Amino acid sequence: MRLHGIRLLWLCLFATVTAINAETTNSASSTCNSPIYCEGPLLRTVQLARLFPDSKTFVDMPTKEPLKQVLDAFDAIGGENASHESIVSFVDTYFDQPGSELIQYSVEKQNPPEWLNDVHDPIYRGWLEKLSDEWRDLAFEFDTSKLCDGCVTSALPVKRPFVIPGGRFREFYYWDTYFVIRGLLLSDLNELAKDMIENLLDFVDTYGFMRKSQPPLLTEMVKIYVEKTGDESFLYKSLPILDKEYTYWLTNTTVQLDKKHSLNRYDVHNASPRPESYSEDYEVANDPTEPLNDTERHELYSNLASGAESGWDYTSRWTKTKQITNNDPNTILRQLNTRNIIPVDLNAMLWSIENTLSEWHSAPLEKQYYQRQASKRLAAMDQYLWNPEHHAFFDYNITGQQQNIEFTPAGMVPFWLGSVPDRAFKSLPKVFDYVIEALRQDPGILTTSEFNTTMQWDWPNGWPPLQYITMRAIMNVDYWIRHDFHNASQIKYDEEKGLDHDRTSEFIQLARIMGERYAASSFCSWYNTGGSLPGLLERLTSDTEDNGHMFEKFNVQNMGSAGSGGEYTVQVGFGWTNGVALWIFNTFSDIKAPNCTSTFSYPV
Ligand SMILES: *[C@@H]1O[C@H](CO)[C@@H](O)[C@H](O)[C@H]1NC(C)=O
Ligand SMILES: *[C@@H]1O[C@H](CO)[C@@H](O)[C@H](O)[C@H]1NC(C)=O
Ligand SMILES: *[C@@H]1O[C@H](CO)[C@@H](O)[C@H](O)[C@H]1NC(C)=O
Ligand SMILES: *[C@@H]1O[C@H](CO)[C@@H](O)[C@H](O)[C@H]1NC(C)=O
Ligand SMILES: *[C@@H]1O[C@H](CO)[C@@H](O)[C@H](O)[C@H]1NC(C)=O
Ligand SMILES: *[C@@H]1O[C@H](CO)[C@@H](O)[C@H](O)[C@H]1NC(C)=O
Ligand SMILES: *[C@@H]1O[C@H](CO)[C@@H](O)[C@H](O)[C@H]1NC(C)=O
Repeated sequence: MRLHGIRLLWLCLFATVTAINAETTNSASSTCNSPIYCEGPLLRTVQLARLFPDSKTFVDMPTKEPLKQVLDAFDAIGGENASHESIVSFVDTYFDQPGSELIQYSVEKQNPPEWLNDVHDPIYRGWLEKLSDEWRDLAFEFDTSKLCDGCVTSALPVKRPFVIPGGRFREFYYWDTYFVIRGLLLSDLNELAKDMIENLLDFVDTYGFMRKSQPPLLTEMVKIYVEKTGDESFLYKSLPILDKEYTYWLTNTTVQLDKKHSLNRYDVHNASPRPESYSEDYEVANDPTEPLNDTERHELYSNLASGAESGWDYTSRWTKTKQITNNDPNTILRQLNTRNIIPVDLNAMLWSIENTLSEWHSAPLEKQYYQRQASKRLAAMDQYLWNPEHHAFFDYNITGQQQNIEFTPAGMVPFWLGSVPDRAFKSLPKVFDYVIEALRQDPGILTTSEFNTTMQWDWPNGWPPLQYITMRAIMNVDYWIRHDFHNASQIKYDEEKGLDHDRTSEFIQLARIMGERYAASSFCSWYNTGGSLPGLLERLTSDTEDNGHMFEKFNVQNMGSAGSGGEYTVQVGFGWTNGVALWIFNTFSDIKAPNCTSTFSYPV
């Protein structure tokens, strides 16, 4: 029998989460009970022995023997007291290669999508053809028939194939999937896009929420799939599950800010390290020079897990201090305050779910309910997140009871999705001042923040999804200004279908420059790592085995190198990078490829 799966460790994350919540202890045992991959002495002992440079490696390894034998063998070597040597040989004997239950899913090779013919530049066109075909290398399914009877894995069954981001990520992730689906739809791989959405819908349907949740974009995924395919029956089939996910966020993450207003936060409770980052989290929480008591340690583990839920793991958005000390990156992670921040991006996404579901429901009761929720949220965003002096949205800081006045592209999400309070419409001409400033400071793609913290969601890293979101925001605002919009109710959910871009407007030029910088960054870093195109582009040097990497993030200080920092080494593959590249050329087909080895720039 064949089972497809995603990994139980997501589940573990969420389950342990609930475990310290006194009222909700039960859901921990019902959703995460693997003594190997979730919590317990075996996980702790193996992870703290640091057998692998990356903690994720171990939780990705299925067992070679049935669960009971593995646990007995662990006891036999002395359990938590086992010597380092015996742990090494225990893992070697009882665990298989990471991801060994994963098999390539075969996607038929097809012609390049037709719209690529409109891409003017032959080198970019050749490169994009390659990217549109690369999904086939990233498509997988789980084949648990490779496991012995009784053997276990952190993979959980999903019924359909999926596209992984690449690199260390041997499973699919929630918000990555939105940008992957963008790329799949533009590559005419509609079925694979649908498979991925259905896998996610199945999780919500089964568990009531997305395990290892991230920025909630499932409704947006259904939206763009239905827009591309016209498959409205899929929309109606998804609707009850989208309702369910919304209810989860509302029930579990709402913060009442005053009598009238409430908003949501990333909020995962966790009493122990994340399984896939066990030794990293453990080290952060157990610094001998700064001992924490149990309450403080649980709070830190919860802030770490909530940071992972935000998709921005980690960033100065969530830390009280903005600098590391003693060159030790853990010092800043100890200052995480994720659960006390009301994130503007999360609330804009929840508004979009409310707004979209109010459109999709036809029953008056549901329709009115979601309309009411959306208008309540917009009022709260107006009160707490919009800043009329700065013409910008900021996160709200519960600890300091004020906004964090710091530029990050998270403030662009309301303009992407349309959650803009009436009084902010007056500011539309100024809402990209911070973006323009940041694009003047650095020659590459848009930065993630203004702080150098060595964390990966900070300067000098720029991330593909944030370029997409900002460009979409710019194009929307351009449209709203030219059509004299005064309120959010004028914005229709399917606006993107009909955007009539005035190619000469200043804002569209700004979006275009962002597109040019993104294309050059991802293309030149691919070229610099050995990328070539037969008959079009020679390989830079012959002394490399590599044939071109697409990176997950980029350095904004130039156009041609990957980003760095954070808790793991930079990843190649890469799902959302490719998806955003395809979208940019579908929008701006006349961008020209630079000569990567000479100097070039795209000034704002
Ligand atoms: C490990 O050693 C400690 C101290 O000697 C002992 O109390 C504990 O029971 C041992 N644990 C196991 C699993 O043998
Ligand atoms: C969400 O909250 C409900 C109600 O308090 C609780 O039963 C449930 O376990 C929570 N779910 C998660 C995943 O925390
Ligand atoms: C832990 O330390 C905090 C101060 O940082 C203190 O308020 C709290 O009471 C302590 N908790 C326990 C259980 O000792
Ligand atoms: C939030 O406010 C507190 C108190 O003013 C401050 O120390 C902290 O730096 C602010 N930012 C974050 C992310 O916690
Ligand atoms: C960022 O800060 C770190 C540590 O303080 C420093 O080593 C590094 O050079 C800085 N990065 C840049 C790009 O300036
Ligand atoms: C939104 O603006 C339009 C055009 O100015 C106006 O007709 C409409 O009544 C406004 N709607 C709301 C809810 O303010
Ligand atoms: C790119 O620029 C380099 C350095 O300026 C030059 O040697 C090379 O010929 C250029 N390549 C092309 C294809 O123009």
